[in-house]
Amino acid sequence: MEKTQFMPRILLLSAIVATLTLTACSNEPLDTHPDQPVTKRKAVFKQMLRTLEPMGMVVREREDYDRQAFLAGAMKLKQLANEPWVHFTPDSNYPPTRAKPEVWQKPADFTLAQQKLKESTDQLVKAAESGNMGQIRPALNSVEESCKSCHQDFRGKV
Ligand code: HEC
Repeated sequence: MEKTQFMPRILLLSAIVATLTLTACSNEPLDTHPDQPVTKRKAVFKQMLRTLEPMGMVVREREDYDRQAFLAGAMKLKQLANEPWVHFTPDSNYPPTRAKPEVWQKPADFTLAQQKLKESTDQLVKAAESGNMGQIRPALNSVEESCKSCHQDFRGKV
């Protein structure tokens, strides 16, 4: 009995160690900036993706729809939609960023793209509150479209 409880922990630990090792060995340059704005904004974007992905599964009927969980996800996205932008400081265009120079060259367009995301997440919360999949599906598609169109204009390849 004791053994079966112990083993998974060992496996989990070795998985964590392996992940850390991989991270340390990757070719990505370290973020040496004192405030680490690139690291901070990337962390928010990753959270956005982690929140959005399971919601996409629900809308595509690959996961069951749970009204409360979906609403919580929508509210989380709405909150996250405000967060990355303060970390795009004037001096934060340095490796390992994937942001295109256009972020700094076309600030008005960049702000507009942020606005689109905020509006689409507002709509998503409203749709999620309605619990109506007929409203939720297009609202989620529109959020995904906001992510994609900003990436097309402002995020480069690695
Ligand atoms: C207004 C523009 C804009 C919007 C909207 C936007 N992104 Fe991004 N995203 C960026 C930029 C610019 C980067 C590159 C950041 C960097 O490398 O400094 C990025 C990077 C990312 C990354 C990579 C993070 C990493 O670790 O390198 C993910 C994942 C991501 N975005 C997900 C999303 C998701 C999901 C949405 C929609 C819910 C979204 N983004 C909406 C501009 C945007």
